[in-house]
Amino acid sequence: MSVDLSHHGDADLVPGLVDLAVNVRSGGTPDWLVRRIRDTDLAGYPDQREAAAAVAGRHGRAAEEVLLTAGAAEAFVLLARALRPRHAVVVHPQFTEPEAALRAAGHRVDRVILPFPFTLDPGLLPQDADLVFVGNPTNPTSVAHPRDAVLGLVRPGRIVVVDEAFADCLPGERESVAGVSDLTGLIVIRSLTKTWGLAGLRVGYLLGAPDTVRLLADAQPLWAVSTPALAACVATASAPALREAGEWAAALAAERAHLLSRLRAVSGIRVVPDAAASFVLLETQVADIRARLLGRGFAVRRGETFPGLGPGWIRVAVRDAETCDQFAAALAATVGQRLDSGA
Ligand SMILES: Cc1ncc(COP(=O)(O)O)c(C=O)c1O
Repeated sequence: MSVDLSHHGDADLVPGLVDLAVNVRSGGTPDWLVRRIRDTDLAGYPDQREAAAAVAGRHGRAAEEVLLTAGAAEAFVLLARALRPRHAVVVHPQFTEPEAALRAAGHRVDRVILPFPFTLDPGLLPQDADLVFVGNPTNPTSVAHPRDAVLGLVRPGRIVVVDEAFADCLPGERESVAGVSDLTGLIVIRSLTKTWGLAGLRVGYLLGAPDTVRLLADAQPLWAVSTPALAACVATASAPALREAGEWAAALAAERAHLLSRLRAVSGIRVVPDAAASFVLLETQVADIRARLLGRGFAVRRGETFPGLGPGWIRVAVRDAETCDQFAAALAATVGQRLDSGA
């Protein structure tokens, strides 16, 4: 089935409805971070050195292993434009921009579509794949692959790109491979968008071997990352910010557990188990489920624009307990099922 690789959750947002479609932190950017970003000198050209050092320090890497980018999205494009894969493979269902970037750069792309419950099986990858994109934890499945399975994808002659835009949803960033520097061919992409509510600032980074970082830096436009974005990198790499991110991840886990418990009480749906990110993925048997939920006041992310999913699948952002309760009741009513209490 052909899918719209350029569809994103913000297009499923409907003003005035409860937003469960967008997976950026709800509540906006923390005030202290807004102040740090605003308090920057805009007159001069950006200087990346302090930010690269801060990011490197946060992950126990060297500064030459860091490339700051205008969001994870720019990193996908740089990789697609600078690398020359013979056999690029994208592990789906996952965020569609890596595949879109590869195709736009003229590469042939094969898809490995993981079956339900969408856990990584390295054995499904073609032996000759020399460029592999995988998300961890994955959007939209919310599955966190074990880091050993991710590291097991690396082999001589292959570049493995791990999109860790949601890695800090896991307390202690449990499955992250961002700190692994002794594996040539491993590239990790991170984003400040989700946890810090900074989608509009455009800031993220890539971690990899120094020669790959240099190759990608040469492909990057001059001054691609603005001074305010660099200030956000420095601020969010600090010890207090990392503590705050850890507390947010713990609170998220509690809210997610509540949502999952309410969803367990809705019969006629299938929820992807072991959700680890700030959203959950579920399947209903109702092809126009999204439109029906809109009629009940809830905007959710449609699933059918992700390869491997079809109509009836929806991604639902984790919100506070009251919103989760209201959503579960609306979902139960929509799929025509009874919502048992307290399950
Ligand atoms: C898995 C994943 N990676 C990357 C991105 C893009 O991140 P950024 O805003 O840093 O470009 C998104 C945005 O939705 C995403 O879901």
